Amino acid sequence: MDRTLRSAHIGMKFGMSHIEGAMAFGADIAAICDTDPDNLRAAGERYGIPEEKRVADYRQIMADESIDIVTVAVPDQLHAQISCDLLRAGKNVLCEKPLALKRCDLEQIVRTAARSEGKFMVGQICRFTPAFEKAKELIDGGVIGEVYFAESEYAHDYMTFVDTWRGDPDRHGVIGGGCHAVDLLRWLVGDPAEVFAYGTHLLLPTVAYDDATVAVMRFDGGAMGKVFVSTGCKRDYTMRTVIYGTKGTVICDNTSPALTLFTTDEKGITLPAQTLAVQVNNHNAAKEFAVFARAILDDTPVETDALEGAKTVAVCRAIIESSASGVPVRPDYHFD
Ligand SMILES: NC(=O)c1ccc[n+]([C@@H]2O[C@H](COP(=O)([O-])OP(=O)(O)OC[C@H]3O[C@@H](n4cnc5c(N)ncnc54)[C@H](O)[C@@H]3O)[C@@H](O)[C@H]2O)c1
Repeated sequence: MDRTLRSAHIGMKFGMSHIEGAMAFGADIAAICDTDPDNLRAAGERYGIPEEKRVADYRQIMADESIDIVTVAVPDQLHAQISCDLLRAGKNVLCEKPLALKRCDLEQIVRTAARSEGKFMVGQICRFTPAFEKAKELIDGGVIGEVYFAESEYAHDYMTFVDTWRGDPDRHGVIGGGCHAVDLLRWLVGDPAEVFAYGTHLLLPTVAYDDATVAVMRFDGGAMGKVFVSTGCKRDYTMRTVIYGTKGTVICDNTSPALTLFTTDEKGITLPAQTLAVQVNNHNAAKEFAVFARAILDDTPVETDALEGAKTVAVCRAIIESSASGVPVRPDYHFD
């Protein structure tokens, strides 16, 4: 049965997109939280949230039994602590990607979510990007036949914001941003059984990790994949993605209003390209929030649950390990 959900939002930078998602869904904004008073005030003023609903300590949100749903958009290093505290308090938690950086934190969130009365969703927002939703629909509908190769890239210039928590050696670009491309391939094709990667470090000298990585992978079922991550690239942000099937090909992007589709005739001859219009909405937080809110109201499972978020980071970690060791690595998907 529908009722008005009461939401709270932690982290007032990217987290403001969650406020907008909650407002679009018709939730009652019960609290916003940030340790930085300037960011807290700016968000409060922007969304008309009164001062008594602005808090600096997320534990005040845990203590408020009237709050149903809490979104978490703080630095990645804090995801595990804050999400687990909220889950233990019985809250439904929507936490930003990547689920966590370290294996022990991934395990902790998966275990805590399994025991909690609250539901958990990791914000793998690319699954709500219209172009990628369309690609998924075409693949699942059999339009391009059996997928034999898929590639995605995360090319995003971090030059101006790398000297923050994003520069932490544990926050390798393959996990921080590359998790989007890895998660997309997992969603569209499946779980890679093995990965092999190379990395270079030419563009961001102040960070401890490679700023460009290319990984190839083999999926259960025989398909192949490739992920390219560049966090120092000299171009505008893109997640160009190409999916090759036995009967057609999809070429799409998070930042393009058009998806290109190739199909074949009954003899297998490639037909002229079709251009399908898609909405450009790279951060579709409104849909993400709505999907989570519906799962809470209807008491249905969440697709991008804690295990799903952990598996995506497991692939990212395998890519980093392979690029350091020079040998193929099989991602470890076991978190129980
Ligand atoms: N889905 C996406 O495409 C996407 C895009 C950007 C960021 N993100 C993710 O969102 C999260 C936040 O990123 P951002 O760009 O907003 O970072 P940011 O550093 O710009 O902002 C983080 C905010 O959290 C606040 N904060 C830090 N510690 C806190 C705490 N203990 N309690 C309350 N507030 C605290 C900071 O004061 C700051 O206002 C990260 O996990 C990031 O990976 C996701």
